[in-house]
Amino acid sequence: MISNKTFTMIKPDAVEKGHVGAILNKINVSGFRIVSMKMTQMSQRDAELFYAVHKERPFFGELVSFMSRGPIVAAILEKENAVDDFRTLIGATNPEEAAEGTLRKQFATSMGENALHGSDSNENAEIEGAFHFSVRDMF
Ligand code: CMP
Repeated sequence: MISNKTFTMIKPDAVEKGHVGAILNKINVSGFRIVSMKMTQMSQRDAELFYAVHKERPFFGELVSFMSRGPIVAAILEKENAVDDFRTLIGATNPEEAAEGTLRKQFATSMGENALHGSDSNENAEIEGAFHFSVRDMF
C-alpha cells in the first residue's frame, strides 16, 4: 500500500457557519488519518504567500481577503492515494459543478467561498503542509 499525504484548509466560510465538526467527521469516515491539525487565522500576507501561484489572476484580491477574514482549520491528512482521493471527496472548485455527496456540494456556496482547500499534487501537499506545520506538529 502506498500511503501518502495531502493538505487541507476548512475555509473561513465553513468555519463561520459551524461546519467544522461535520466536515471532520466526513474526512474521518472516508479513511483519512489526521497527521496535523490546528485552528488558525491567516494574515493578508500569509494568504498572499500561500496563494502566490494565483497572484496574476483577477480573483486574487478577493481570494486573499476571503482567506484572511476569519479562522480556518488547517490539517495534514494521510491515506493511500491521499491527494486524488481528497480532491474527489471535496468535489469541483465550483460548487454548482460538484458531484452529489461531495463536501463542496454540501457546504460550499460559490466558486470563491468553496468551504475547503485540497492540494493538487504530492509536491504541493508537502509545500502547503510545511507552510502551516513544523515537523514537531506532525504525528
Ligand atoms: P482552492 O482550491 O483553495 O485554490 C484556489 C482558490 O481560488 C480556489 O480554491 C477558490 O477559492 C479560488 N477561486 C478559483 N477560481 C475563482 C474564481 N473564478 N473566482 C473567485 N475565486 C476563485
